[in-house]
Amino acid sequence: MKIARFSRIGFILAAAGSAVGLGNIWKFPYITGEYGGGAFVLIYLFTVLVIGFSIMIAEMLIGYMGRRDSVTSFEILAPHHKQLWKYAGFQALAGLFIMIYYSVVIGWIFNYIVTSLSTLPSTVAQAEQTFNTMLHADFWTQFEYHTVAFIGITYVLTKGIKGGIEKMNMILMPALMLILLGMFAYALTLDTFSQAFHFMFFPDWSKIDSNAFVVAVGHAFFTLSLGMGAMMTYSASLEKNSNIVQAAFWVVFLDTTIAIVAGLMLFTFLYQYGAGPAKGPGLVFISLPAAFYEMGIIGNIFAVLFFIALAFAGLTSAVSLVEPMVQYFIDRFSWSRLKASIMMGLFFYLIGIFAILSNIEGASEYLTWGNKSFFDWVDYVTAAIMLPIAGLIMAVFIGFVIEKSKVESIMKPQLGFAFEAWYFSLRYITPIAMFVVMLSLMGVLS
Ligand code: PHE
Repeated sequence: MKIARFSRIGFILAAAGSAVGLGNIWKFPYITGEYGGGAFVLIYLFTVLVIGFSIMIAEMLIGYMGRRDSVTSFEILAPHHKQLWKYAGFQALAGLFIMIYYSVVIGWIFNYIVTSLSTLPSTVAQAEQTFNTMLHADFWTQFEYHTVAFIGITYVLTKGIKGGIEKMNMILMPALMLILLGMFAYALTLDTFSQAFHFMFFPDWSKIDSNAFVVAVGHAFFTLSLGMGAMMTYSASLEKNSNIVQAAFWVVFLDTTIAIVAGLMLFTFLYQYGAGPAKGPGLVFISLPAAFYEMGIIGNIFAVLFFIALAFAGLTSAVSLVEPMVQYFIDRFSWSRLKASIMMGLFFYLIGIFAILSNIEGASEYLTWGNKSFFDWVDYVTAAIMLPIAGLIMAVFIGFVIEKSKVESIMKPQLGFAFEAWYFSLRYITPIAMFVVMLSLMGVLS
């Protein structure tokens, strides 16, 4: 069915491109700020290694063995109840749902690239006002850039695995890493680097509560692109005899390194020129532009480069959020890639318009339920409910449903003595952790 295959490096870059996204550069620093730094970073690193890495291998394994879209892969691999198990593959829908707001945020970033060229806000208050005006009053700007994001993402998807996704990642990922490393090198020369380092690596346990643990696990999932069929669908295009463990290792390593580098750099800038670390979701859109302003002309250059890097990170993740459903329609309904890409694109594009409206004054009251706007609901339902469920299902699927001998024959040669530890983690540690996280995130425990 599928002929196009990733090259080895192409796969690693594409999977890392999926993982390294807004989650690393936008979300990780601000939740680290909210939970007081070092202690949170330690918990996060621990969860990435113990839970994230295990599920990453499991998810890649399902795609690699199934070699089809996520739904068909589950169906093929399940030894019994195939018609039931195939529904596990619909985790791919979560990716498409996430795109409803992810594309809007990429649009904000495009807008910030353009505006940073000329002006930066001179104070945090002004920066806040600029951001809030865009968010709550400026429908058209958000709409236009959301449209640009939709066109770009859909275009890449129509070009397929090799000519679209792999090619895009081969260019944008190295560019993104170069920009970040360049800015990181500059941060290293500033006095406040040590302060940022201290903040991120010296634990202050007083800010940690059970919530921090839950947020860390949820974020580990999101940032590694797990539970949405993304890694699974990419892995279906791996060459036979690929080393899954090695690929998973690189993805986890790059994702974590980039999050930490971005965090250290941002905190250094915020200590040196700005208001310090704890600033919530507005960190990169509010505190950071004001800090860049203080740097003078180099700040403009940095701001533009920074938002370009952020856009690259977002775009390479975005294609991986949509590709699983594109693949599903190609595989199961024999749609052409062109048709599947455009239809999936239109889905997130059109619904995304409501996500924009749900923050706009005058429209938001019709698009807010409980205390959450439609925009926030999409985030909540995907991150708090769909992801952990998918994680739980995949762990159970590999740990209990597929015959151990089958899993062992592929994974034992790659994992060696660590095989039993991985298997144990999938059977017991991960399911329990995911279950607890899900309950807490849904507010049952907290
Ligand atoms: N991992 C991406 C990020 O950190 C988000 C993402 C989730 C992308 C799931 C693809 C699939 O922003």
